Amino acid sequence: MKSLFKLPARLDPAKILPADLLPAKSHKAKSSSGKSSGLPHGSSFTELRAVDNFYQTSLFFPMPAVLVSTLTDEGKTTCGPYSLLAPFYVAGKEYYAFMLECRNSSNTAQNLIKHKKCVINFLDDERKTFKEMVRLGWPGDTPAEKMKDFAFHLENGLRKAEDPKGTYPKVISEALQAVECTWVDTLDGAQDDGPLPEGADHYELEKYHDFNGITSPYGAHFVLRIDKILMKPRYRDAIVNGVRAQDFPPLPVDYGYRDSKNFWYHKHRRLLPELLPQRQTTVQSVRYAANRLQTDVQFTDAALEKLVKVPRIFIFLPTVLKGCVSWAEENNVKLIDVEQMDIINDRRSKEKNK
Ligand SMILES: Cc1cc2nc3c(=O)[nH]c(=O)nc-3n(C[C@H](O)[C@H](O)[C@H](O)COP(=O)(O)O)c2cc1C
Repeated sequence: MKSLFKLPARLDPAKILPADLLPAKSHKAKSSSGKSSGLPHGSSFTELRAVDNFYQTSLFFPMPAVLVSTLTDEGKTTCGPYSLLAPFYVAGKEYYAFMLECRNSSNTAQNLIKHKKCVINFLDDERKTFKEMVRLGWPGDTPAEKMKDFAFHLENGLRKAEDPKGTYPKVISEALQAVECTWVDTLDGAQDDGPLPEGADHYELEKYHDFNGITSPYGAHFVLRIDKILMKPRYRDAIVNGVRAQDFPPLPVDYGYRDSKNFWYHKHRRLLPELLPQRQTTVQSVRYAANRLQTDVQFTDAALEKLVKVPRIFIFLPTVLKGCVSWAEENNVKLIDVEQMDIINDRRSKEKNK
């Protein structure tokens, strides 16, 4: 099957297209008309065939657009744009992780295989920012070629601050938030995956991994452990103190390639709040809010149960929980149980009645 992307004649698709954008392989075709594809009579849909890169060839799929910083062999930072990035381990493991899907011959993939570390930089939605992202996305350019005219500034992150002798990719100073990560190469047995031999543009292996490391001739997946999250103070404050519509950062939403000419994205729009249907507070919902506090102070279920009984607690829960944590920190308490909650409540009612 022919590539869906028309490319300049001088370019070899395998060299310039990311793995996720390589020409569609032939799949058993079904008709694209609703009528013959078995949709019920009167259906409001037509069917679209899923082909390679289905998320953009067969769907409109909103994605983030980030610049991933990695280390070159010389210990310099280079940046490549990526959208196929999703939270992967979000709870219940010893660490949190993202999943990044990459063309395996990209600078980013090769640097991750060799040096393991990266920073995921979230930049704003200005046109000049996105233009620079698209420029950095031109496949085949070396890090030196890309970074020579880099439009942003680089600075050290927290990893470097904590380990001054170590070498870490730098963070883009203009990022609104950035996540320092390490590739978990031990998952799926990917620790032995080596770099591409000089001049090769893909891997030819007997077996490819399922979800981590080299996963196909042109593809790679990286489970990226989250080491540090860095954020500009105003957005951190919004997360910690509770967000209002105007507090969300202006992040772009990417719709990827739609043809050989353009990448498409849209700018941030004002967010709209939608009230949660569940109004009845439960211990679980209070626990959910407690777990989101940036603190080591813990609560027992019995202590949280006391908050469930406070009328309309749902509305001011974060403030109440933060008050509890402040009290605990002032009094060197690590675990808030019923006894401590009673003390806090007493103090609160005394303050109210002053
Ligand atoms: C906004 C944007 C998002 C992209 N997302 C991806 C992606 O998720 N995966 C991928 O393999 N390539 C993606 N690409 C193409 C890569 O950026 C391209 O392969 C580039 O050469 C990678 O740069 P690097 O070699 O410096 O890592 C994207 C390009 C742009 C402009």
